[in-house]
Parts: sequence; structure tokens; C-alpha cells
Amino acid sequence: MKTRIGILTGGGDCPGLNAAIKSVVRSALNGMFSRRRKTDFDVIGIRDGWKGLCETAIDTEEMYKKHIVPLDEDLVRSWDLLGGTMLGTSRTNPFNPAADRSALLLSNIHRLAIDCLVAIGGEDTLGVAQQLRRSGVRTVGIPKTIDRDLVGTDYTLGFESAVQVITEEVDRLRTTAGSHNRIFVVETMGRHAGWLALEGGESSGACVVLIPECDFEIERVSGILAKERSRGARHDIVVVAEGAKPKGRDHFIKSRELDSFGHYTLGGIGEYLACEIQKETGIETRSLSLSYLQRGGLPCAYDRRMGKYFGTAAVDLIVRGDFGKMVSYRNGRITAVPLDEVVGEINTVNVDTFYDPERYNGSRTLFLDEQRPASSEG
Ligand code: F6P
Repeated sequence: MKTRIGILTGGGDCPGLNAAIKSVVRSALNGMFSRRRKTDFDVIGIRDGWKGLCETAIDTEEMYKKHIVPLDEDLVRSWDLLGGTMLGTSRTNPFNPAADRSALLLSNIHRLAIDCLVAIGGEDTLGVAQQLRRSGVRTVGIPKTIDRDLVGTDYTLGFESAVQVITEEVDRLRTTAGSHNRIFVVETMGRHAGWLALEGGESSGACVVLIPECDFEIERVSGILAKERSRGARHDIVVVAEGAKPKGRDHFIKSRELDSFGHYTLGGIGEYLACEIQKETGIETRSLSLSYLQRGGLPCAYDRRMGKYFGTAAVDLIVRGDFGKMVSYRNGRITAVPLDEVVGEINTVNVDTFYDPERYNGSRTLFLDEQRPASSEG
């Protein structure tokens, strides 16, 4: 009897997901690996995240074909090159108190004879995997979100590909901003954590980076930009996370309709900020939101490698019988952490260490504490 692995991708999509799926399939099925492993596996993909396991009873051939994708090495051979997720995804929450579908979820897991579930996702998706573990289901998590806001890991799939998109798009903006002597405000994703805005802004030479972890004063933003202009800058870029906000103001919300994990859709801070900057400085200012471009496109090399490593490590955990954990990347090493330690909080930017609230940008010192006099040696 083979051990059946079910794999799904949940939440916001991103490049690197398919590399992880391919790696789970190869690591479980490839003869080179299985000789090291005493277990015979088969791997099935579940379509559209948790929705694929809790929308209907998968008790007919038709329902099986609708929700399940049998995976083998030939099918996934080129998936490491591909963006998005070939399995599809959703923001379905089977444990949504308003529409609990966990009984159907558990019965489908049993009906499909899934021995262990690999969930690739962020805090919401992995939260479901943690709850399933508590119901006795063998689960393993793989960290994924362009926000890079999961605790327990230094990396989440999709982040570097998204930073690359921000950098390339801001490079384009810098040419037209320079031609027209303008300031551009670029709104990025990042609901509660500003890592994407901070590292995207630092990669693209932004003059100002605004993050959810540090409310800002528009007057101070304008002062920084006006000073740059007086020093001869022909253009400047401001990168602002969708979850950033002026002091004393609430989040800028695009839609108050909540998803099944209780999130509303943020958006609009960039446009507001551009108007305010232009009013304060008199400098022509434009804005745009990179929106879903940050989740699109092909995986960068780093996301392909991290997808490969995370998928291999997930199968290692399964072979070891080490369930209820998320594979992770800590201090330069692939490791694993209990899902209980991952779910329930998010990894936000430590302003004291990584951010300069005076300049609204990354920290201006990496080794020296500004209060400490420079070393007299050397
Ligand atoms: O969770 C990652 C993320 O990309 C956030 O940065 C963003 O706010 C959200 O997903 C958008 O969600 P959706 O794709 O459901 O609109």
C-alpha cells in the first residue's frame, strides 16, 4: 500500500509555488530518492487550496477529476519555470465560524486516503493545517507569501520575485520621472508587514519608504523630498506599503468586504499621499499601485531554489514522521518549526533595527549604534 501525499497551495499566489510542488513530487517519487526511503509514495494535487477539499464531497469520478490532480514526474517536469500555482488557490477557510466546512474537509481527506497533507501558504493557510493537525491529520507546511510576514522563518516563497518586480518597475518609473521632473509614489502590497516595501524600496533607490510598522507625518515626508529637490534631484521615488498610514489616521481601505479569514482589501494610500505631497511641496507628483504585478511573472532563481529546498525538506519531514511542522529557513539553514509557533502572530519589521523613522527609510547604520562614538581603533 502506498503512502499518499496530498499537496495544496492556499492564499495569495506567487512565483516559486510550482517549484515547491515539483520538488515534493520528485523527492517522493524519484528512484534516486526513494531508494533512500523505505516508503512508496503517490502524490495528488488538490485544486484551489482548501476549497478543493471542502466545497463538495469527492465521492464520484466527476468530483475527483474536478478537485484532484494526480501528480507525477513527467507532469511537473517544467513546473519549476512557471509562475503562479498550477493547482490553483483560494482564500477558503474550512474552519470559518460563519460557514464551518471542517467535517466535509475531514471526510474528504479520509475518502481520498490522504496519509499526509502538504500545505503551501501563509499564516491563514498554515493556520488551517495547524487546526487539522490537532484533529489528527498529518500535516506539513511550506512558507509562502510575498509579504514575508511569517514568524519562524527568515524566508517565504515569492518574496524575492516580488522585490524584483518592484525594482524593475521603479527603474522604469525613474526614467519618466526624471524626464518630467516629477515625484512618483509607488504603492506596494504588504497588509501588516512592511518587508516588501522596505526591501523593494531599498533595492530601487527610493528616497522615502513608508511601512505599516511606523505611522508617518506627511509634513516630514514632504520636507525630505523638498530638501532632495533643493539639492538638485530631478526626480524622486516614494515607496509606500498598502498598510502604511499617516499618524492618527486609519488604514486606507479599498473594500470592506471581508474574506473568509476576516481580511478586508487595503489600497489607496499611494494616491492620497501623492496629492498631499504635491500640495505641500508644489512638485508635480504622480502615483501608481503595483498591485498584483508583484505576485505575477516567473520565479526568480532564488525562489526556484527555495521552492526546491522547501519541497525536499517537506518530504524529509514526512519520511521522518515529523508532522505538525513548517519547513523553514533560519540563519542560513533549512530547518523546521512547529506550526503552533508559526500561527497566531506575524513577523513585522523591527523598526529599531531595520528602519530609520527620521529619514523614513532603511536604517542608516548596520554596525554602529549612532549613540555610540565610532571606535577609536583603526
Ligand atoms: O497575502 C499576500 C497579499 O499579496 C497581500 O500583500 C495583499 O494585501 C493580499 O495578498 C491581497 O489578497 P487578494 O489576492 O485576496 O486580493
